[in-house]
Amino acid sequence: MLKFPDNFIFGVSTSAYQIEGDNKNSDWWLFEEKGKLPYKSGKATDHWNRYQEDIELLAELKVDMYRFSIEWSRVYPSKDYVNYEALSRYREIVDLLRDHGIEPMITLHHFTNPIWFHELGGWEKRENVDYFIQYVETIANEFPDVKYWLVFNEPIVYMLESYIEGHWPPMKKNLFLAEQVAANMAYAYAKAYEILHDLGKVSIAKNMIYFEPYSDKDKDIEACRKAEQMFNWSFIDGILTGRLKVIRKEYDVPKSELDFIGLNYYTGMKVKYTLNPLRLHLDVEPIKTEKCTLMGYCIYPRGLYEVLKKTWNKYGKEIIITENGVAVEDDEDRILSIVRHLQYTHKALTEGISVNGYFYWSILDNFEWDRGYDKRFGLVEVDYTTFKRKPRKSFYVYKEIIKNKAIPDDLLEKYGENIS
Ligand code: NOJ
Repeated sequence: MLKFPDNFIFGVSTSAYQIEGDNKNSDWWLFEEKGKLPYKSGKATDHWNRYQEDIELLAELKVDMYRFSIEWSRVYPSKDYVNYEALSRYREIVDLLRDHGIEPMITLHHFTNPIWFHELGGWEKRENVDYFIQYVETIANEFPDVKYWLVFNEPIVYMLESYIEGHWPPMKKNLFLAEQVAANMAYAYAKAYEILHDLGKVSIAKNMIYFEPYSDKDKDIEACRKAEQMFNWSFIDGILTGRLKVIRKEYDVPKSELDFIGLNYYTGMKVKYTLNPLRLHLDVEPIKTEKCTLMGYCIYPRGLYEVLKKTWNKYGKEIIITENGVAVEDDEDRILSIVRHLQYTHKALTEGISVNGYFYWSILDNFEWDRGYDKRFGLVEVDYTTFKRKPRKSFYVYKEIIKNKAIPDDLLEKYGENIS
């Protein structure tokens, strides 16, 4: 049996736009309506109306903590109007969680923005940061009791998808704007930190990939180092040093702090040098393993351990795994993934790495952005016509792990990896 410390946090994560439904004041909704995105979020999982039922599920799972996001566009449907009804719904959610002994972890920005913010130029403009800070102040005022805060979810993913790949709103492909956006987010982070740090621990959820050079050629090794610096470290380095350099340009940003590192881990990639300057001379491809996911990448639990080790060696800060999960056809693979990622988390712990929590993404199947609804990450299956929830076997397995604060032997035997 692999035992976790008593204070280890077991959780699950969601985000507002992916589960609530009808977020009509959000930029994503606008782009969906314009027909620019491949899928419409619609009612999503209808969580906005079914939150009580969903909190019952969290209570049954007995998680220590639940990570969710507040939809900025719900709270501020227009620039200077606060929707108190929406705020009180979020308040009710926090109170209900507490009634069940579940601590909330709140994400303030999980990819989506209010339409009015988008129309003002969104994150491209430094002066717009004030609007975000106004929202942060409103939320901080409403939730002085919340102890865990994530200002941004995956800021570099947002920058890449929205301003380099152009797959997500505002669907631009502009390196100059991309870097500007990252700098404005780092600037906003520092301002938000000052407000939220009085309440509790503040961080971001940083997507980290395990990168490996494609070959032992110097050029591939250097390309790998570059990809890792850009994707995994640049934003955190920027926050901590006050100098942000994601790709080319270096920006001065206010030096700030991370009270822990929120780490989202999904997979590993191989990096190869390419002549193409438009790809920044980097070619990446998934590390292939025997189990791959519907997202096109593979399950690579050892990569989590490597990334935890590197993050710890680099920053020496407490780490919380704020997301890890798989979209798979067969729920058995979800169980395998949870067990193995936890095995490697445990290994990191035994080596003295301060990793204090693991959050599975996600409690429910949900709206997977431009990949739609058939990429199912949930411990609980959602029927999108009736909105009926049905816990999968993985739900009960995770429940057992949480109850024991350990991976029991029978699970290790059936699903575990030989990791000596
Ligand atoms: C990371 C993102 O934070 C989340 O929104 C997404 O659904 C999961 N990864 C799975 O792709």
